[in-house]
Amino acid sequence: MDYRQLGRSGLRVSTITLGTMGFGGTGWASAVGTIDVDGARRQISLARDAGVNLIDTADVYSNGLSEEIVGRALGADREDVLIATKVRMPMGKDPNDAGLSRHHIIRGAEASLRRLGTDYIDLYQVHEWDGQTPLDETLEALDSLVQSGKVRYIGASNYAAWQLMKALGVSESTGLSRFVSQQIYYSLQARDAETELVPLSIDQGLGILVWSPIAGGLLSGKYRRGVDAPAGSRHLSDWDEPPVHDEDKLYDTIEALVEIGAARGVSAAQIALAYVIGKPAVTSVIVGARTEDQLTDNLASARLALTDDEISRLDVVSAQPLLYPYWHQAKTAADRLGPADLSLLGRHIG
Ligand SMILES: NC(=O)c1ccc[n+]([C@@H]2O[C@H](COP(=O)([O-])OP(=O)(O)OC[C@H]3O[C@@H](n4cnc5c(N)ncnc54)[C@H](OP(=O)(O)O)[C@@H]3O)[C@@H](O)[C@H]2O)c1
Repeated sequence: MDYRQLGRSGLRVSTITLGTMGFGGTGWASAVGTIDVDGARRQISLARDAGVNLIDTADVYSNGLSEEIVGRALGADREDVLIATKVRMPMGKDPNDAGLSRHHIIRGAEASLRRLGTDYIDLYQVHEWDGQTPLDETLEALDSLVQSGKVRYIGASNYAAWQLMKALGVSESTGLSRFVSQQIYYSLQARDAETELVPLSIDQGLGILVWSPIAGGLLSGKYRRGVDAPAGSRHLSDWDEPPVHDEDKLYDTIEALVEIGAARGVSAAQIALAYVIGKPAVTSVIVGARTEDQLTDNLASARLALTDDEISRLDVVSAQPLLYPYWHQAKTAADRLGPADLSLLGRHIG
């Protein structure tokens, strides 16, 4: 297992993170998994044996049950791993039970600490944008948690680039704690993040934790043209993330993954994970697994390095058109592009 610095922080994180959205499995999360405390213990043990040092959860997963299971499964081993959790989604019916107000963040952190059975959270992430709470209120609340020792680092998730940049600007001008990472969707199914979120991370020194790196299973090789995926697979339910806009392209990408995997004697899932782990600014991919076999398979991707030919085949089959202003910059700004710009435009200019 490799370890990478999380953004500009001093924290080293394994290139694979254990996702726990399937721990518990109540409400909408039942489509993802129904892993109980014993199952969680086995998953955590497999992950730690492979060198994983970060576990990602959220207050909203199974309405708190995922955090509770993580806490119970870790028990006295809590100190041996890093725990990332999140706040922002609704946790009750009260109008103040959601969002990124000082009120909800402080209450959310206290509740997460109780459920996790710990007195600190290693990485506390805002789960989603809140366009109605001033950013200085959100950042001041997060900073107070850092100052009190209840939170060690803060991160964002699912922010647009302008929103994240604005938050970094508030931290800079006020001296409040700064986000060290962003947790984002990024996979061979949709490389939208390369347009702005990845260049922002390169420019601002933010770590990237990737959620759904195999698109919730779509890239595992079990969804093929004209073939039924095994019963019980997530995308056979009414699960609608990530949205698929171009089914043909997805199937072409899956065929390339399956062929590259077959030539190496590994699964398509491992190839899809290795591809994202190898991309600029990516710190770690957060893998989900319904079963221990899936987790064992996914953990093996940490040992895989794709060749330039394999990467460029996958780059080509999953390529997306440049959005404005980037197609124009590719044509007319090529003489003065910096490293962050080139992460997107490098392959489009001569
Ligand atoms: N910040 C956010 O907004 C956000 C959003 C989503 C997730 N997350 C985080 O990211 C983590 C991972 O998300 P995810 O579960 O969507 O990730 P994923 O790794 O893309 O998908 C995992 C799913 O794919 C299938 N699968 C996994 N490995 C497989 C293999 N080797 N072979 C065949 N099928 C395989 C399983 O589903 P089936 O068995 O049903 O096919 C499994 O539940 C979550 O646990 C959570 O911590 C964060």
